[in-house]
Amino acid sequence: MSQIRSHIVGTGYSLPAKILTNDDLSKIVETSDEWISTRTGIRSRHVANDGEYTSDFCVKAAKMALANAGLTVEDIDFVIVATVTPDNTFPSTAAKVGKILGIRSGVAAMDVNAACSGFVYASQIADNMIRLGQIKNALVIGAETLSRIVDWTDRNTCVLFGDGAGAAIFQASEEQGKNTDRGILSIKIFADASHYETLCSDSGVSFNQKSGFVHMDGKEVFKMAIPSLVEGVESSLKLADLTLKDIDWYIPHQANARIIDSVAKKLEIDDSKVLVTVDHHGNTSAASIPLALAESIESGKIKKGDLVVMSSMGAGFTWGGMVVRI
Ligand code: ACO
Repeated sequence: MSQIRSHIVGTGYSLPAKILTNDDLSKIVETSDEWISTRTGIRSRHVANDGEYTSDFCVKAAKMALANAGLTVEDIDFVIVATVTPDNTFPSTAAKVGKILGIRSGVAAMDVNAACSGFVYASQIADNMIRLGQIKNALVIGAETLSRIVDWTDRNTCVLFGDGAGAAIFQASEEQGKNTDRGILSIKIFADASHYETLCSDSGVSFNQKSGFVHMDGKEVFKMAIPSLVEGVESSLKLADLTLKDIDWYIPHQANARIIDSVAKKLEIDDSKVLVTVDHHGNTSAASIPLALAESIESGKIKKGDLVVMSSMGAGFTWGGMVVRI
């Protein structure tokens, strides 16, 4: 039986030009390259300059994705941006992207806040709309300027995060409905709100009219991230009736190299199949998976036909996984 599937027909990314190394950070807070790299695997991260906003990175990533897809803004009929660092409290960053790109009137635009799982959540929404025949081409973006919500005097958090955006164009395509087809084969998303305070902004618009700083119980996040990332992989593979033996690549949320290593070990995935960008991106939250995907497609690592499983975990807690044949 044939069915409509979303193909990822183009990807793009954008990173701020400014790079902050661990040595640079050691001049800001009491830390060292040795501490940061051994505890997190992070060596450098990109950080927005004054006057650069989340929407700027979205727009650059979107332009690259459109060019790679051979499409124009006229073809886009849905814009969704996953972010916890919007330009304005409202309207959405998706609306800002639409304004800058010149997306035509009538095209729906919205943001999703699912923290580090934002891209997987946004993909679920876009994929469902495509499957229902409501849209044909969706612009799906994960983007952050986390540097604006970290306390640069707190060494526990400021060393972990980075800025940037990744974008993908999802396009409707009639398929046979088999797991050998190209396109998005499955997506699973989850949340458990009992961990609301474990990782959060310490302020908020309705709470105290501020955006606040990242606050987290690092050890608890670390502990919970491992089973959540594992569940994202296992549940999405199961839904697609595939196993780990079938996959070519695993893209985990890029929070910490030690978390990624533990997840790969638990899943018994060979290290050579695990794509790691946390060393030069840091944790870019909703941007981390699409950034790694777009970079790996651009470098030629991920090729057409490759089977990729991705899993994410973040504040909420939220987590999830998706399986895509590129
Ligand atoms: N430089 C030097 N020392 C530091 C730094 C730093 N940047 N940060 C903390 N320390 C110190 C602490 O103060 C502590 O000192 P003390 O023993 O004198 O009190 C010591 O290092 C050890 O601190 P721990 O918290 O025990 O270090 P741990 O090994 O747990 O690593 C880390 C901390 C890296 C934050 C880890 O818990 C972690 O990665 N957790 C996951 C958090 C995460 O990834 N959050 C991102 C958002 S969530 C997500 O994306 C899934």
